[in-house]
Amino acid sequence: MNVADSERASTKLREAGYELVGSSESADVVIFNTCSVRARASQKVFNRIGEVRKARNGNEPTIGVMGCVAQLEGSALFDHSSSINLVVGTTATDRLPSLIESARESQRQIIDVGGRVDGELWKVSNVERHSPYVAFVPIIEGCNKFCSYCIVPFSRGREQSRVATEILDEVRSLREDGYKEVHLIGQNVNSYRPLTSAGLEGFSGTTPFSKLLRAVAATGMNRIKFTTSFPRDFHPDIVAAIEENKNLCNWVHLPAQSGSDRVLRAMRRGYKREDYLRRVDAIKSSRRRIALTSDIIIGFPGETSEEFEETISLVAQCQYDGLYIFKYSERPGTPASGLADNVSNREKSSRFSTLEIFQKNLQGVIYKSYIGREVNVLVEGESAKSNSDMTGHSTCHKVINFPGDMTMVGQEVSVTITEAKANSLYGVIKKN
Ligand code: 5AD
Ligand code: SF4
Repeated sequence: MNVADSERASTKLREAGYELVGSSESADVVIFNTCSVRARASQKVFNRIGEVRKARNGNEPTIGVMGCVAQLEGSALFDHSSSINLVVGTTATDRLPSLIESARESQRQIIDVGGRVDGELWKVSNVERHSPYVAFVPIIEGCNKFCSYCIVPFSRGREQSRVATEILDEVRSLREDGYKEVHLIGQNVNSYRPLTSAGLEGFSGTTPFSKLLRAVAATGMNRIKFTTSFPRDFHPDIVAAIEENKNLCNWVHLPAQSGSDRVLRAMRRGYKREDYLRRVDAIKSSRRRIALTSDIIIGFPGETSEEFEETISLVAQCQYDGLYIFKYSERPGTPASGLADNVSNREKSSRFSTLEIFQKNLQGVIYKSYIGREVNVLVEGESAKSNSDMTGHSTCHKVINFPGDMTMVGQEVSVTITEAKANSLYGVIKKN
């Protein structure tokens, strides 16, 4: 989401006549985009500002902070660092050009942490996108879930869904411009609930999100991925839509966060272990092999070693294709910050590595099961390790490396897997 925000901000800036330069050493204006899901995000931005100031040696640029840290800390950022001229919240990105102008003209500190205003639409020009083949398309901003540990509802505000017609127009024009893959993104994509059903007429589906999936599939875009799905709202119709449409990719990211009912309740996730496992069952019993990935938080306040064991057993049951593990990090202002962060750092580290090793072993078996199978890969560039190898992602969102050359970039190829590594697969292009 932060990458998508930067793309939107850059679009607005270039439209207003700004030139975007690659280095903070020559820029007149330096804007830091920030995330605050875990601690020390504001410290990081202060450190980076310090580095820029030092490198500039007196010739200081206008410095701005945008994103979650800006939204949450607001004008307190000015008190922490007198170098900051501009604070721009998560939904004020479109006003960046005029805010920069005000800061430079008035020589005063400028802040805007207001919401989006009428007529501000999600618009990103292709030159600002992170890839010429893969595009992020936000479908919903913000979050209404208020999980007890999470800062996102405070930093990004309430859920706001884009109207489907706008999303579909964007996907169609990306397709015309040669894009091969879109990622429909949002904190909770399957909570998608637009104010009008414009654009979804004629598409079947039990929820607006599964209608949207079918509508996006009908644009003919080659590959469609979506992330993140919220377990409570994960309707089996999503699996049905994936089965009906080959271009809806066979990958679901469904964060469990914990395997213990007591911890899930304290996290206010709104589901129990059994409810989560039912969703997983629907995904795993699909006739397409749908890859499943998840997020887990270890060391939530009061998490006992037995409760941690329940998470391990959940991970064993789910057979994830990939897992992101996070140590609980107290976020001021969230309900969980009122609970004692009483799992010691040492214990958190130990649980972290226990789970990491556990997952690595399971993942090893899953990855090996791909040997001899064929996967569809969108070629994205040269592999970092060898310049005779190319790299890309499969439809099941695994990193695939294989011998090839730059002429293949942007194309879809069939790769037969010959070898499984810890976090990637290796193979050869299938000869027709
Ligand atoms: N501490 C640790 N991990 C967190 N996440 C969100 N908030 C916190 C927190 N306070 C993790 C969750 C979420 C992922 C994006 O970040 O696992 O799914
Ligand atoms: Fe945070 Fe929960 Fe919303 Fe995800 S669903 S962004 S974890 S509050």
